[in-house]
Amino acid sequence: MNGEEMKRLCLEHTLYPWAATGKVNPLPIERAEGIYIYDTDGKRYIDFNSQLMSVNIGHSHPKVIAAMKAQLDKLIYVYPGTATEARARLGKKLADLTPGNINTFFFTLGGAEANENAIKAARGYTGRFKILSRYRSYHGATNATMMLTGDPRRWPSEPGAPGFIHVMDPVPYNYSFGATPEEITKKNLEYLEEVIMYENPQSIAAMFIETVTGTNGVLAPPPGYLKGLKALALEARHLARVR
Ligand SMILES: Cc1ncc(COP(=O)(O)O)c(C=O)c1O
Repeated sequence: MNGEEMKRLCLEHTLYPWAATGKVNPLPIERAEGIYIYDTDGKRYIDFNSQLMSVNIGHSHPKVIAAMKAQLDKLIYVYPGTATEARARLGKKLADLTPGNINTFFFTLGGAEANENAIKAARGYTGRFKILSRYRSYHGATNATMMLTGDPRRWPSEPGAPGFIHVMDPVPYNYSFGATPEEITKKNLEYLEEVIMYENPQSIAAMFIETVTGTNGVLAPPPGYLKGLKALALEARHLARVR
């Protein structure tokens, strides 16, 4: 199929997410290898972004292809209640790689589905319903994860599922120009503590964050923020139990 026909059929029969229908001009991609993607005219592009930061190992890596082909030959599908070698190996490997006592995993097909299940787990475990997340965040395009998302992609889905509270990120504001990164962390954690007190620790199930914010600007946390947030979460958990 040539590039023009590929584009025409894609635009005529499929919807592109986060884009105004009729204004999309997709690149017709034929194949990819290593760091390169190629369009239907054979033009080569360097994929600096590994697509959505998701093909970090490079396109069509021979080891990945060989493993996929071997699995296809052996077993393509079984129902979720079975045990398989692939599931066993991946679960064990993740347990070995992740720190501390994080050693049990639930497999999903993508980010939004993972977050949907994490919301259900947090609510089910704590018996509380409020979920905190930050304004500068994207957490997925399903109903609950759109409400979890803080950025304006949430707006068209409102009003959505209730119980989602958004908070400001640890970034400098007008009043804090000249503040050191440590001071910004401290102020933001004080502000968060206040939000938690006003929202009632006994009704907060979890806070969701991107450790390094992705599509909202690729923002690394300021020094001490993640440690401080963990301490605050443990304190909030304690408050929720003793009150
Ligand atoms: C931080 C973050 N969370 C969740 C998602 C949603 O993932 P998916 O598109 O696989 O549902 C994304 C997707 O870009 C993301 O960047």
